[in-house]
Amino acid sequence: MTQVGIIGWRGMVGSVLLERMRAEGDFDLVRPTFFSTSQAGTAAPEVARGAGPVLDANDLEALKRMPILISAQGGEYTQAIHPRLRAAGWDGYWIDAASTLRMSESAVIVLDPVNRPVMERARRDGIRDFIGGNCTVSLMLLAVSGLMRAGLVDWITAMTYQSASGAGAQHMREYVEQMGALHRAAAPALAEAGGSILEVDRAVQSALRSEALPHAQFGVPLAASLIPWIDKDLGNGQSREEWKATAEANRILGTVGRPVPIEGICVRVGAMRCHSQALTIKLKEDRPIAEIERLIAGDNAWVRLVPNEREASIRELSPAAVSGRLEVPIGRLRKLSIGGEYLTAFTVGDQLLWGAAEPLRRTLRFLLDRLDA
Ligand code: HSE
Repeated sequence: MTQVGIIGWRGMVGSVLLERMRAEGDFDLVRPTFFSTSQAGTAAPEVARGAGPVLDANDLEALKRMPILISAQGGEYTQAIHPRLRAAGWDGYWIDAASTLRMSESAVIVLDPVNRPVMERARRDGIRDFIGGNCTVSLMLLAVSGLMRAGLVDWITAMTYQSASGAGAQHMREYVEQMGALHRAAAPALAEAGGSILEVDRAVQSALRSEALPHAQFGVPLAASLIPWIDKDLGNGQSREEWKATAEANRILGTVGRPVPIEGICVRVGAMRCHSQALTIKLKEDRPIAEIERLIAGDNAWVRLVPNEREASIRELSPAAVSGRLEVPIGRLRKLSIGGEYLTAFTVGDQLLWGAAEPLRRTLRFLLDRLDA
């Protein structure tokens, strides 16, 4: 059995990865070795019975013995370790959740339901770095791949509603702490029978503006508010998260030479682990909505078309409904009154599943030649 080294398995993405690998029986296909930057020598996690003790994630010699490494340890680790491993002659497969290597010439971004031919070509060409894409980009592509594959899309605007989980585990905690603090502040006014809603609002506003509201991670309130900037400021009015849409999507699709522009504003909202996106899609030509629906719904096993009706939309097309699920629903699909080539749509996906862990475990199977379509 192929040996696989797993790094960063205690973190949020790593934990979801292990859960998914266990659920899908991936550990029956490999001999796992677990690495840690801080807890070498401890016992391996329960999910992979029989694995030896945890090894040091900074031990290049131990890492080099692995034909496949999967890292969910984060960008700093990748930056520190990956070049040294390659320089030392290691020619194994590196599967990574971090963004560090996504744009590298020697890497491919993986999202097999959308770009399996690109992954296959990369493998034939000797590419050995297989990198998970940005969560927002991967979730959007799973939803609209049918239109992209048909070559119908001229451009897309994606206005995002991104969850706290995209920022990290500590941010998720802070978001819940903020909600608790706001409720505590408003509780006396809420408890007053027939009390004034303006009293409730004043209590919430005052808590939102108070230094006592937990804000060490986000810097500002997310609960009862939103944050219209994600990731670094590129200095040209665009955030790094916004830049990723065109750059990564076209790499994933293999259309870098004739890119489909994908632009928008990325916004952090009060959701736990699902990213949502409102899309405007400019088609190259007017097509009947029934054909568009067929293309979208039939593209892959995970996209699910939600009828553009009120009940279905509010029940099935929300972070609350989609959290913890692998399917990527898309709905609110209709032609805009602007013209027959202009579509609007809304899509939601679990940022930790298809947005992070799932492409990695499926890439492992792909490299083992054990990935079903
Ligand atoms: N950058 C994303 C976010 C998550 O902040 O939501 C990881 O792709």
